[in-house]
Amino acid sequence: MTVNTRPVRRGGSTRWTVGKRSLPGRRSVLAAVLVGVFLAGCSGGEDGEYPAADASGSQTVEVSVPDLSDVARQGAELFASNCSECHGPSAGGSSQGPPLVDKIYEPGHHADFSFIRAVEVGSAQHHWSFGDMEPVPGLSPEDVNNIICYVRELQYANGIFTDAGGLSACEA
Ligand code: HEC
Repeated sequence: MTVNTRPVRRGGSTRWTVGKRSLPGRRSVLAAVLVGVFLAGCSGGEDGEYPAADASGSQTVEVSVPDLSDVARQGAELFASNCSECHGPSAGGSSQGPPLVDKIYEPGHHADFSFIRAVEVGSAQHHWSFGDMEPVPGLSPEDVNNIICYVRELQYANGIFTDAGGLSACEA
């Protein structure tokens, strides 16, 4: 399933195509389905499909950085100043947070929507042992989209997923 979470311009303002409580009719059904997919996708941590990192939190991976698209380059700068502290340079993880270049976070398991959610409301500890992720303030929907594009290009280049549909955040 392809989840399109890019911001769309409607009447001059930028807003997300999913996740707005006020969306009427079919759209709120779509949002509900997406939330369902998101929650189902995250259950992998509980059933042992993905073992948690050891408590030392030393789970890091080596990431090779490809030639980035323009959108991803913008995302890389934002990632460095907002996310690297925990998710490591090039999203390879650190002692404070998990690598995002990891099978757990491939598009089919953590759709773009789960990145938007994590930035907006944070993420309670459930896959790892680093503690909770707090919300990250001060990022526009476009900023978050660019960060997602960056992480997806890193994941793609490092063999985390192979279907280029997972790079849809980069079409902006
Ligand atoms: C202060 C540390 C910290 C910062 C800063 C941080 N994160 Fe996280 N993040 C975490 C931790 C820890 C987890 C893992 C929670 C778990 O599953 O145990 C996490 C999980 C996530 C997840 C997975 C959410 C889910 O649904 O399971 C995403 C996506 C994510 N972070 C993206 C980001 C992005 C993008 C940024 C920057 C805008 C960022 N994080 C900044 C600590 C951080």
